[in-house]
Amino acid sequence: MRFDVVTLFPEMIRAAAGYGVTGRAVERGLVRLETWNPRDYARDRHRTVDDRPYGGGPGMVMKVEPLRDAIRAARRAAPASPVVLLSPQGRRLDQAGVRELAAQPGLILVCGRYEGIDERLVEAEVDQEWSIGDYVLSGGELAALVVVDAVARLVPGVLGDAESAAQDSYMEGLLDCPHYTRPEEIDGRRVPPVLLSGDHGAIRRWRRKQALGRTWLRRPDLLAGRALDEEARALLEE
Ligand code: ADE
Repeated sequence: MRFDVVTLFPEMIRAAAGYGVTGRAVERGLVRLETWNPRDYARDRHRTVDDRPYGGGPGMVMKVEPLRDAIRAARRAAPASPVVLLSPQGRRLDQAGVRELAAQPGLILVCGRYEGIDERLVEAEVDQEWSIGDYVLSGGELAALVVVDAVARLVPGVLGDAESAAQDSYMEGLLDCPHYTRPEEIDGRRVPPVLLSGDHGAIRRWRRKQALGRTWLRRPDLLAGRALDEEARALLEE
């Protein structure tokens, strides 16, 4: 999987994606990460990348030609990758969306800054527009990093066997169950005894019940319209 990120702040992308799971995936060659800086495509002496909005008003808009040329350079390098703009106007990302994006051979992720990008660029150069949630960030970089992280986890080999098995397990689509590690008691709080019992069937059922219960209490919208199997119904009634 390759990610080509069009951004005025390439160091931000490189630094953040260099840690942990994504960092290792890049090191191991499972994920390729390239950045394209519109400033490198600016032609004037000051390497200008913003301009005033037609119609007036506060704020600036990203200058058209440098951004267009950076996107086109990324396209030439990654012709099979759709161009994805990160913006609050896009489709809201969830795990089903992450799976759709992960099915692509690569993604060209375009990060806006200032008040946004010229609408003609959206029409002419952008294939998909995604939002990471209903709030406004100061730029698309953090959103692009969210996409890189969530998608890279689905690339085969990036997660270890145990981690990816947990991801496809019956808990998929539910909130996660609570986790515990040593010591058995800390500040008067104990690990739930079932987790110390060695009874793998009981542990699995307890975890599933916790996941279902938390989802029911905190995010009932995730359960709406979902057919629960017999065990799940029984666990919720216990
Ligand atoms: N850029 C600014 N806000 C954003 C958001 N919520 N999602 C994606 N990109 C953004």
